[in-house]
Amino acid sequence: MLLEIPGVLDGRALARVHELLEQARFVDGRLSAGLAARRVKHNQEVDGSASELAELNQLVMGGLVRHPRFKSAVLPLRVATPFYARYGSEMNYGDHVDDPVMGAPGSQYRSDVSATVFLSAPEAYEGGELVINTAFGAHGVKLAAGAAVVYPSSSLHHVNPVTAGERLVAVTWIQSMIRSPEQRELLDGLNLAREKMLRDAPDAEETRRVDVAYVNLVRMWSEV
Ligand code: NI
Repeated sequence: MLLEIPGVLDGRALARVHELLEQARFVDGRLSAGLAARRVKHNQEVDGSASELAELNQLVMGGLVRHPRFKSAVLPLRVATPFYARYGSEMNYGDHVDDPVMGAPGSQYRSDVSATVFLSAPEAYEGGELVINTAFGAHGVKLAAGAAVVYPSSSLHHVNPVTAGERLVAVTWIQSMIRSPEQRELLDGLNLAREKMLRDAPDAEETRRVDVAYVNLVRMWSEV
């Protein structure tokens, strides 16, 4: 599933994120890349020891994990600490798939879902689309500041060169309770119907049946 989620960060959170990113020290993005990705990665990332990271993570991860569309579509088990990337002029990230297993030994997790939170307004830079290969062709994504896109980590994807301005994003990876993208998509659709039924007709027999089916499908398919 490729899902765009608007309004992960509101204007106030975004303004603070920008303040913090202006102070933070950026380093070459290749330092955090695996062997294959290192050859195609041309960006900068906030230094892993930067003092701004705690507040950045609180704002960005908080906005993401509290968002109802994110929760329903991703069913997160573990959410990684984000990276904050900057693409200045001529920077890009060539075709790659994200690492399958991430995290330090002892706290490793599988990447099922990749998320990019757009921090710059689309007018602030030229190019810089995130292009995701799907079964239905390549899909270019360039969203409003504060919006996010989530997509299967197994997808081949790249970031087009930025030809003017500056592109700031936060990227993170999630291990879902539901490993299969097809099962996650079915559950999300069923849950959207369930939530509407719980609002509109909480006491109806069909609401109870759909609710029980959803809850028990999550139980049947989840790995925790
Ligand atoms: Ni990637």
